[in-house]
Amino acid sequence: MRQRRERILVIDDSPEAREVISRNLTAEGFQVLSAPGVPEAVQILDSDSLDLVITDLKMPKVGGIELIKHVRARSSDIGIIMVTGYASIESAVSAVKEGAEHYLAKPFTDSELLTAVRDVLEKVRFRRSGHGDNQTASVRSHGLVGESAAMRAVYEVMDKAASISATVLVTGESGTGKELVARGIHYGGTRAQAPFVPINCGGIPEGLLESELFGHVRGAYTGATETRAGFFQTADGGTLFLDEISETSLAMQVKLLRVLQDKEIRMVGGTQQMNVDVRIIAATNKDLLDLVRRQLFREDLYFRINVINMEVPPLRDRDDDILLLAQHFVDKYSNELGREPPRFSDRVLEVLRSYHWPGNVRELENVIHRLVVMSEGAAVDVAELPSVMRFSVQHGVGRHLTLSQVEAEHACSVLASVDGNKTKAAEILGIDRKTLREILKRDVARSEQ
Ligand SMILES: Nc1ncnc2c1ncn2[C@@H]1O[C@H](COP(=O)(O)OP(=O)(O)OP(=O)(O)O)[C@@H](O)[C@H]1O
Ligand SMILES: [Mg+2]
Repeated sequence: MRQRRERILVIDDSPEAREVISRNLTAEGFQVLSAPGVPEAVQILDSDSLDLVITDLKMPKVGGIELIKHVRARSSDIGIIMVTGYASIESAVSAVKEGAEHYLAKPFTDSELLTAVRDVLEKVRFRRSGHGDNQTASVRSHGLVGESAAMRAVYEVMDKAASISATVLVTGESGTGKELVARGIHYGGTRAQAPFVPINCGGIPEGLLESELFGHVRGAYTGATETRAGFFQTADGGTLFLDEISETSLAMQVKLLRVLQDKEIRMVGGTQQMNVDVRIIAATNKDLLDLVRRQLFREDLYFRINVINMEVPPLRDRDDDILLLAQHFVDKYSNELGREPPRFSDRVLEVLRSYHWPGNVRELENVIHRLVVMSEGAAVDVAELPSVMRFSVQHGVGRHLTLSQVEAEHACSVLASVDGNKTKAAEILGIDRKTLREILKRDVARSEQ
């Protein structure tokens, strides 16, 4: 039950539109104010406390985007719904970028309006209750862990992407969490009740992909003994996650482009076009633009899928998250395996933090999983870490050193290992003593700079 009547401000230059929206919302028990344009709305916003703003996009003097900017500059806890008769992906995206949470294209039904209003008000209540912006628990929605600035930026775009159905392209190195992000967008949005269907485009043989995606009719090809639905039909109303989109052939890309344009599919061997309502999220760890330049990926498809782009940062760029993630995986695997959680020495924590994680979160997860299995609850020291980690941290793999820095570091460590005996060190290094002295002198000079 609502504590108090929630206050909604409706801004539209058309008196009829204002009237229809106001009447509907008043009938539902909301308190509704209205304004014919942005200047009037700003006055109301300045003097009244509001829960939600529903604004038209195109208005004669000042447009709705300006109003969104005005609202957001003052407060993040007023809900915003953008309404427009000029429905286009671009206007939706710019409205969402400025901070609108929902987007309604005219003409919309009463129930679409009410669903959007309830949805946004629920988010507003959630944020005001303190669970939103200042949530400190390490696990965010749908298993995404991380509180670094880089991940917070990712969550922000995820929240925005969740509220509209525009196509999203998720990019990032292997193992950074692209699939998890895609799931988060799906389950955080209005399609959450419908299926999330992931497909690895690189894992399905070229000849089968079309039939897997669009389905086939009986007799479409040898072996097609019955009509079978494809992933697009399965995902109807929900989200299709096209993983490794770069691995599709140019011929397949043409077909995908057509579906994205027309929102219709045709089953293999079939003659009828079928309507589908599927949101596409694509992912790749390749540089798609480079593939476009090399004519391995269609430029038109690239622009179609890249409406909202999310770059998931590599783990080495979010140091602050490494130990949070490590703790998360320790808890996960100790619980799962019924083991005592291992105790990590300080040096292990240091290595975890300074390693460059080429396999990103997946590599961290595997390392921790193995440690939980192997340690049997005992203390874990550096010796228990995979040798590649020990080696690369010791030798600075992933650090951007010059050759002469590496030379000096190596010379110093050999010298230390022979207790400072320069003759021995030079012999091991395969250089004469004079060269060794020069290397060491250069190193001292650099460290004194
Ligand atoms: N932020 C995170 N919090 C918790 N677990 C994560 C996070 N990011 C990734 N993981 C875990 O790491 C593993 C790899 O993530 P995911 O499969 O989403 O990566 P990916 O970017 O899709 O990789 P690839 O490009 O290789 O397909 C999964 O087990 C996932 O659950
Ligand atoms: Mg993946």
